[in-house]
Amino acid sequence: MSKFFVKKNIAKAKTISTGVYTSVEAYENFKEKIFAPSWQFVGDTDRINEKGSCYPFTLLEGYLNEPLLLTKDMEDNIRCLSNVCTHRGNLLVYEPCKSAHLRCKYHGRIFQLDGKFKSMPEFKEVKNFPTKDDDLYQLPLFQWGKFLFTSLDKKYKPEIFFKDMMKRVEFLPLDEFHFRTDLSKEYFINANWALYCENYLEGFHIPFVHSGLNAVIDFSDYTTELFFPFSSVQIGISKTGDNYFDLPASSPEYGKKVAAYYFWVFPNMMFNFYPWGLSINLVQPLAVDKTKVSFLTYIWKEELRDAGAGASLDKVEREDEEIVQQVQKGIHSRFYKQGRYSVTREKGTHHFHQLLAAFLK
Ligand code: FES
Ligand SMILES: [Fe+2]
Repeated sequence: MSKFFVKKNIAKAKTISTGVYTSVEAYENFKEKIFAPSWQFVGDTDRINEKGSCYPFTLLEGYLNEPLLLTKDMEDNIRCLSNVCTHRGNLLVYEPCKSAHLRCKYHGRIFQLDGKFKSMPEFKEVKNFPTKDDDLYQLPLFQWGKFLFTSLDKKYKPEIFFKDMMKRVEFLPLDEFHFRTDLSKEYFINANWALYCENYLEGFHIPFVHSGLNAVIDFSDYTTELFFPFSSVQIGISKTGDNYFDLPASSPEYGKKVAAYYFWVFPNMMFNFYPWGLSINLVQPLAVDKTKVSFLTYIWKEELRDAGAGASLDKVEREDEEIVQQVQKGIHSRFYKQGRYSVTREKGTHHFHQLLAAFLK
């Protein structure tokens, strides 16, 4: 039995043992066991809106550190490719650009925008060349509205991560959501990435930690729904009777004044929908006790941004950051190893802990 075993029955279960957050071995294991095969957000289609657009980026910089490239070819096909030249490993594209092909700056190897090898100087004498190993590696790409995701592994189909969330908010016109750099932000937290996620996964702490948020959402009507295997949603209902979604009759929440949908997608992505739009939170491990969280703001109806559950997100984030950093200190104690779960309020956290334990096996 793995030392990170978590019982399925929440009423009998103990929380995952603290080694999961403190051990460098677990931190390193998560990299290939959890993050590499999972699906990760890589931006939206506005990054590559013209034919010939190339957008280089590093997937989870400071953790996975995988150099990747988004391209859009002349037929409008979008691809996610390895950004590493197949000759001697130079990075191929350094800056976002527009080009009809990709030319390596080291020895001039040329690739098509679909990653296929095209030409190479001084290689006439080379036997069995080129082969498909000389093409750029192509990663799977999943598109939801304008949002793009990739996975370093072809192990899991994207649908099992995203389909429940997609269905639940299918009434929202995601193409009308616009990214706003000026409203987006990065936070650096002195805590393990999993502590940040598990805090997000329960609304139990809202009355204790977020007095402002607690004044606008109805804690007695706050619900968590698990989507197996890899996602969940928490739903906040407006307490004040305003700032809620206009839901279609097909919605399971029809008739309720939903102020926020908080979706979590394993292992590290949060999609928070508010009547004004969407805040995507990407939790990025930097060290066993350091985490970067990017808040990406997509505006739909700007005039609704200043009120309700989706207002004061910076304040709520700082309150979460503060408490999570205290927990980071607590979990190093000789006297704390595991706790128990509230059956009514912590099933999201229990679900997450079970996944961590299962992946570490
Ligand atoms: S490393 Fe790219 S051509 Fe040599
Ligand atoms: Fe919180």
